[in-house]
Amino acid sequence: MSKPTLRILFVCLGNICRSPLAEIIAKHIANERNISQLFHFESAGTGDWHIGAQADPRSIAIAQQHGLDLKKHCAQQVTTHNVHHWDYLIAMDHENRINLLAMGVPKHKILMMRQFEENIHDINDAQTVSDPYYGGENGFKDAYKVLNHSTTCLLDELLEKHP
Ligand code: 4NP
Repeated sequence: MSKPTLRILFVCLGNICRSPLAEIIAKHIANERNISQLFHFESAGTGDWHIGAQADPRSIAIAQQHGLDLKKHCAQQVTTHNVHHWDYLIAMDHENRINLLAMGVPKHKILMMRQFEENIHDINDAQTVSDPYYGGENGFKDAYKVLNHSTTCLLDELLEKHP
């Protein structure tokens, strides 16, 4: 029997900057490692402002610089109605995590994007993926770099936890 697919939702505030990048990077890394059949990745925002919108042009641009096409992204919101679809919800920052907990998402299903980086022993010590929305292009460059590393760490952890 084949292994069940792990359903992973990357979560930020607006679902136009950070979590769509996390989603496309995770898909890319999983493809490269030939493990994409083990996962279903999507992303969503805790806020509703951008439902149906494309990714922020600056996220599209930084993805494109790394050979990834983010033009088809369509923003969605995570709500109490769809939250149970997911095995894990991956928060970009502590506010996202608090919002998910307030929605009633079981604690064990919520992970922090950066909690499996080196030398982090407690979820509360995880660094955040800083929100680049109100900043310049450099914030998006940094977000990409951070996400590329933390996604690798996250996938390693999930593979170890679900052998
Ligand atoms: P994201 O960035 O949460 O990484 O998608 C933001 C996008 C939009 C807003 C804030 C953050 N906003 O306030 O509209």
